[in-house]
Amino acid sequence: MVTLDTRAVHAGRDDLTALGVHVPPIDLSTTNPLPSVHAGGDAYETLATGGTLTPGASAVYQRLWNPTVARFETALAELENTAEAVAFASGMAALTAALLAATRTGKRHLVAVRPLYGGTDHVLATGLLGTEVTWARPDEVAAAIRPDTALVIAETPANPTLDLIDIAALADAAGQVPLLVDNTVATPVLQQPTRHGARLVLHSATKSIGGHGDVLAGALACDAEWAVQLRQVRALTGAILHPLGAYLLHRGLQTLPLRVRAQQAGAEKLATWLSDHPAVTRVHHPGIDDPAGLVGRQMAGPGSLLAFEVRGGAPAAAAVAGACRLITHAVSLGGVDTLIQHPASLTHRPVERDAKPDGGLLRLSVGLEDPEDLRLDLEQALAVA
Ligand SMILES: Cc1ncc(COP(=O)(O)O)c(C=O)c1O
Repeated sequence: MVTLDTRAVHAGRDDLTALGVHVPPIDLSTTNPLPSVHAGGDAYETLATGGTLTPGASAVYQRLWNPTVARFETALAELENTAEAVAFASGMAALTAALLAATRTGKRHLVAVRPLYGGTDHVLATGLLGTEVTWARPDEVAAAIRPDTALVIAETPANPTLDLIDIAALADAAGQVPLLVDNTVATPVLQQPTRHGARLVLHSATKSIGGHGDVLAGALACDAEWAVQLRQVRALTGAILHPLGAYLLHRGLQTLPLRVRAQQAGAEKLATWLSDHPAVTRVHHPGIDDPAGLVGRQMAGPGSLLAFEVRGGAPAAAAVAGACRLITHAVSLGGVDTLIQHPASLTHRPVERDAKPDGGLLRLSVGLEDPEDLRLDLEQALAVA
């Protein structure tokens, strides 16, 4: 069995030599010629009900299916150790599809573990998609399950405090209810949630998978049964990823292991340095804060995202973010360049007051710059503040 690093380079590319090309072709067709009314109708029926293209059939229309998107999905599924993956126009579109698919049988109750990405929290808290949420700590999940519970939702490491959750224990607590784990922060390089009992793995592929800040995308890695339902929702609601984005994400997967490990090495250095800084009251990073010993057991490493709390609360945090020069003050994470942002005012702004991150907390997504240059920038920013 070849390693994940090797699979990342070759996944979704098995047929390229037979095609006589070295990189995957990009198919931008929004519509496809139909061999006949009957054959076109059959293909439409298959794709609109969540099936995949049968050999020689027409793809009919890009909203239903696209070969460039399907290549990326094959590659991601291989890295996530799932039978399939389904790609969407954004992480939130992927979450929406998961909620619509999970609740289609009429069960509308969700159990969710905070903290979650602020956008996910917002969709669940507002019940915008007709769901009702019970917020639970991991040890409260079993008791929160009801006969009408459709899905358990968690994120580990969680955004923005990097809390870790034992996925196997959570899957046990969820019992027959499917568990969705947002794996955006860890990436399949560090953690494959289905190995621990998760049924659905969510990605904001906008983050580390794309890795360069130029693609908005989402994906769900899952078994074949879920994939059919998710593709049907995607086809009917129009949330498919654009093929140019799929091409870039597929290319991004090739360097994902290298980027994740190099960025992680930088984050570990900065987390250690920040821990000793007099202006910093607390550092959140799985390399420092892992009471259950999940790094090494569930995760192959602590990852490249960290957060730290500055003395002086929200005004001091705002001053630090504003004083960074090399580090860009911007939301998002997982890219090659380092970003800093203030979750309480930005990514987690909509979160209810009692679940909001601390006002003094800043989130740092460490990129590929020399960690010493990043340290010097943080040092001057903390001094200014
Ligand atoms: C952990 C996590 N999940 C989901 C999302 C939503 O993804 P997108 O912005 O691609 O819709 C984000 C975005 O920041 C995120 O950080």
